[in-house]
Amino acid sequence: MSTLLHIEASPRKQRSASLDVARAYLEAYREAHPDHRIDVLDLWGVDLPEFDGDALNAKYADLSGATLSAGQQQAWASIRQLAQRLHDADTLLFSVPLWNFSIPYRLKHFIDVVSQRNILFSFDEKGSAGLLKDKKAVVVYARGLDYSMDSGTRAHWFDFQQPYMEAWLRFVGVTDIEPVVIEKTLYGAEVDETARQAARAQAVALARRASN
Ligand SMILES: Cc1cc2nc3c(=O)[nH]c(=O)nc-3n(C[C@H](O)[C@H](O)[C@H](O)COP(=O)(O)O)c2cc1C
Repeated sequence: MSTLLHIEASPRKQRSASLDVARAYLEAYREAHPDHRIDVLDLWGVDLPEFDGDALNAKYADLSGATLSAGQQQAWASIRQLAQRLHDADTLLFSVPLWNFSIPYRLKHFIDVVSQRNILFSFDEKGSAGLLKDKKAVVVYARGLDYSMDSGTRAHWFDFQQPYMEAWLRFVGVTDIEPVVIEKTLYGAEVDETARQAARAQAVALARRASN
């Protein structure tokens, strides 16, 4: 059975623009694929493992080929378990606010925890390769201001949200990426709603076209 994993990175559960548009995608996706499984990972509702102590030492032990201690093995097992949600999904749907030109720290925390050698990527002297295979990502980006190329300003130079997410997705093996961008959510209710509407329509069209 195909699985869609929705990774929620906004804590604004009622007013969030990224969640609003991701929900429109999900509604259309459910309608088009009633038999598919939907998994939800709310990054503000889970206890992400701290990436220090045993987890950090396990990472460096693995990179240097050293044997993991019992504590390190346990830390590694919980990382593997979290990353398995990504492996088990066919479609990854992310709802991502822009915070200080980049992504919210809970999403970065998640990425730092799960991005490990032999879990999400392989790595040797010849280079690295992503281990997430045959997946599609739909990423809904919400921004208060306008970072688009056609904004008429150099604001796009400050966009470390979309380029970062897409660099990371490619690094872990996901190259089929559909972005849905909501700009100007802080320009007043009318501009916000117009931006959401356009993004919702784009998201619904993508969901209806989705084959898995
Ligand atoms: C901590 C924080 C930092 C933010 N930094 C920026 C920023 O650098 N540039 C910007 O355009 N908007 C910024 N915003 C506004 C959000 O991008 C905007 O409200 C967006 O709609 C958030 O996504 P959401 O509605 O899905 O939560 C920030 C908001 C928060 C809470």
